Amino acid sequence: MGISLGLVGLGSFGSVFARLFKSHPLVDRIALCDAEVEKVRKFADLPEFQDKLNQKDVFFSLDDICQTDLDAIVIITQPWLHAPQCIQAMESGKHVYSAVPVITLPDFSEVLDWCGRVIDCVQRTGKQYMLGETTYYRPQTQFCRRQAAAGAFGDFVYAEGEYAHDVDSNCSLRQVNQMRQTGKIGEQYAALVEPYRRRGCKTSPMSYPTHSVSGPLSVMGAKPLRVSAGGYRNRNQDPFFRHYEFSNLVANYYLDNGAVLRIAEMREISDNIGLKDEDFRIFGTRGSYSCGNWCENGRLVPDGAKHPNTCRAVTNAEMYEPLPKEVASAFKYALNPAAKPEDDFQPSGHGGSHPYLVHEFCCAVAEQRMPAINAWDAACYMAMGAAAHESALRDGELLPVQDFGDAPSA
Ligand SMILES: NC(=O)c1ccc[n+]([C@@H]2O[C@H](COP(=O)([O-])OP(=O)(O)OC[C@H]3O[C@@H](n4cnc5c(N)ncnc54)[C@H](O)[C@@H]3O)[C@@H](O)[C@H]2O)c1
Repeated sequence: MGISLGLVGLGSFGSVFARLFKSHPLVDRIALCDAEVEKVRKFADLPEFQDKLNQKDVFFSLDDICQTDLDAIVIITQPWLHAPQCIQAMESGKHVYSAVPVITLPDFSEVLDWCGRVIDCVQRTGKQYMLGETTYYRPQTQFCRRQAAAGAFGDFVYAEGEYAHDVDSNCSLRQVNQMRQTGKIGEQYAALVEPYRRRGCKTSPMSYPTHSVSGPLSVMGAKPLRVSAGGYRNRNQDPFFRHYEFSNLVANYYLDNGAVLRIAEMREISDNIGLKDEDFRIFGTRGSYSCGNWCENGRLVPDGAKHPNTCRAVTNAEMYEPLPKEVASAFKYALNPAAKPEDDFQPSGHGGSHPYLVHEFCCAVAEQRMPAINAWDAACYMAMGAAAHESALRDGELLPVQDFGDAPSA
C-alpha cells in the first residue's frame, strides 16, 4: 500500500515540488492546500492530478488539512511559519517535511527555542521531521558522502562552504521578500515583525545557514564545537539592510573531528566565491574535493616515498546516485511533461536535489524510518548560525555552538 501526503504552500517554491510529490510511485493519494484559492486550483484542476487527487482533498487552511487522516504533510510556506506549522502537523498525527530553514525570526534565542520544540515534538509524537535542505542532495554532496564512507579522504583537515546570494542577483532578494510578504498570509508579516523591531532585534545572513553548512557537515559526519566569526556591515544605507546587523558574515568552526570549517554567508557581494553560489570544498590527508575535481595522493602510510596528487574531473552524472528506475521514470515526466520515452532522466532544481529530497521523504514515510536531515541535524545547522552571529557581535570571540544532541539510532 502506498502513502498519502498533503502539500501546504503552493507559492513559488511549493509549485516546483507539486508534480514531483504527486508523481512519486509510493504516493497514491495527494492533498493540496494554500490559503489563496487560485494557487490550489492551478494544480487541483490539472488533468494529470486527477488520478491521485480527490477534490475532497483540496484545502485552504492548515487547520483543515490537519483534520485529515493523511500520513504526511509537506510544508513549503513562508519561513517565519515553518516550525509552529510543523509542530501542529506532527501533533495532528502526520509526518512532516519542512522547507528550509527551521524558522526565520529576528531573534536567535527564539529560533533555538523552536528547534528544541521541534525535537521535543518528534520525540513526543513519534512522527518524523525532515528539513528539505537542497545542498544535502547536490551532486557534489552525494559524491563526497560516498568518498567519505569509503575512507577516501583520509582524515578531514579543512573544509569551506558558502551561500553567496547577493541582494541584487538574478534571484533578487528584494523581490523575494516583497512577494513573500504579500497575499493573504504574507501580509501578516508586518504585524508579526513589529514587536521585534521595537525591541531592536536585527536579522543576519546567518539566520539561513543551511545551504552552506549542510554539505560539509553531512560529508564529514562531524559536529561543530566552537566558532569565531566576523561580520561586514552595510555601509551605503541600502534600505534592504536597514534591519540587518551584518550583510555578510564569515565564520570559522572548530569541529569534533579536528577539522576547521570556514563558512561564508554573503548577501552583499559581487559575484561568487566558489564555483557556484552554494558550494563547498573539502580537504583530507589523502583525498580532496574542490570545484568538480577529485584529487588524491595515494598515501596510506608514511613510507618516505613521493606521493604526488592525481586529479580528475568528476561529472554530475557520476556524482548522482541512481534513483530506482520507476522513480526516475516518473520524475522524468514530472519535471518535463514533454519528455520522450527514450530521453534520460535529468535531475533538476537546485543542483538536481529536488527529486532526491522528494524520494527520501516518501521512502522514509513508507518505511516508517527517520529521514535524512532530521530534526537534530536541522537544529545543529541553526545553532551554527546563531553562534556565529553572536561571535561576530562580540568581535570574533570564540563561542560554543549549542549542542542539541544526536538523533536516536534506529
Ligand atoms: N533552496 C531552497 O531550499 C529554497 C529555495 C526557495 C525557497 N525556499 C523556502 O521555501 C519556502 C516558500 O518560499 P516561496 O518563495 O514559495 O514563498 P511564497 O510566499 O511564494 O509561498 C508560500 C505559500 O504558503 C502559503 N501559506 C502559508 N501559510 C499557510 C497556511 N497556514 N495555510 C495555507 N497556506 C499557507 C501562502 O499562502 C503562500 O502561497 C520559504 O520558506 C523558503 O525559505 C527554499
